[in-house]
Amino acid sequence: MRRSATVVGMDADKMRLAAEFAALAPSVHNTQPWRFVAGAHALEVRLDPERGLGYLDPDRRQMLLSCGVAAEFARLAIRSLGSACTVRLLPDPAQESLVAKLVVGFREAPTPAEQRLIDAIPRRYTDRGPYTDEPVSRSTLQSLREAATDRHCWLRVLDHPDDRLAAIRLLETAETAEATDGRYREEMERWQRSGPSHDGVPVDRMAEWAAQHRVSDVPLRDFSGRGRHRHPGAGEPPTVERDTIVLLGSDRDDPLSWLQAGRALADLLLVLTDAELVSQPLGPALDLPFTRMQLRRELGLVGYPQMMLRVGHGLRVPVTGRRPIDEMFSATGTP
Ligand SMILES: Cc1cc2nc3c(=O)[nH]c(=O)nc-3n(C[C@H](O)[C@H](O)[C@H](O)COP(=O)(O)O)c2cc1C
Repeated sequence: MRRSATVVGMDADKMRLAAEFAALAPSVHNTQPWRFVAGAHALEVRLDPERGLGYLDPDRRQMLLSCGVAAEFARLAIRSLGSACTVRLLPDPAQESLVAKLVVGFREAPTPAEQRLIDAIPRRYTDRGPYTDEPVSRSTLQSLREAATDRHCWLRVLDHPDDRLAAIRLLETAETAEATDGRYREEMERWQRSGPSHDGVPVDRMAEWAAQHRVSDVPLRDFSGRGRHRHPGAGEPPTVERDTIVLLGSDRDDPLSWLQAGRALADLLLVLTDAELVSQPLGPALDLPFTRMQLRRELGLVGYPQMMLRVGHGLRVPVTGRRPIDEMFSATGTP
């Protein structure tokens, strides 16, 4: 009883700040499918069903993954404000949209390791441009594996040529299927942006590859939805980039695992940012149930792939925007 008297309440301004950090999370097509509701002792992360991708993501796997990242960013922000924080995923089965409740605890300074991750949040971004040829160090890859394991997930580096080839082939298959699917393109078009915007993804990021005369051996999602990125092999050979590919997965495949994978993804991305590395999700192979299942089979995975990333040393700055925080945040004083 006496201990609870020392629990630190957080005022609405601090909760709002935590929500602002959370909103810097990556999300599928930059949909930002979340809302944050604050009370004195807890911050709730809720799904915003209006911002789902009903065609691409009917079971909401990618939506929950995105919200899992936001929940982890919020936890770190609460830690940076000097409080302990307990994360309860899916705390109330009666409230489907309540995906996480972050309960603020005793006064407790962040650890140095947490502080490094917190500092990385505003610097993290998805880099869709070419990366340098510098390899990703073994120690960083080991840190990524450990970050995944700490969150009940696993990480596999696709460093065997057969694994890499299988992933590339399945990305190609998925890209062809999506580029010829009118409903996929229609949904994609709703999130395409050609200039500065509060949400959605920029469609014009492929030009940099051409300018540098480079191609990736991995098909990268073309946000025009038409599979028009440059392929290696056609005409005069440009420099072919072969980035490190990693696969994050979980043992189960249900909403709780998707949220846990989101938290793991958050930590991976921040570990990378802290090491001055960047990444880009290779989403299409996991969008479609048949390519996702084939990936499991061809790589001999025991669990379920949740996110594939190319990783490397990039040279750019963040390009996507975020909605104003008041669109996503409210304070009730009760949770
Ligand atoms: C589940 C998920 C899937 C994603 N898939 C892709 C993808 O296939 N290709 C890509 O370039 N970015 C992908 N992204 C990255 C988002 O487009 C990106 O996070 C969003 O546009 C916000 O930009 P930022 O990460 O730079 O803040 C994905 C992100 C998430 C969370």
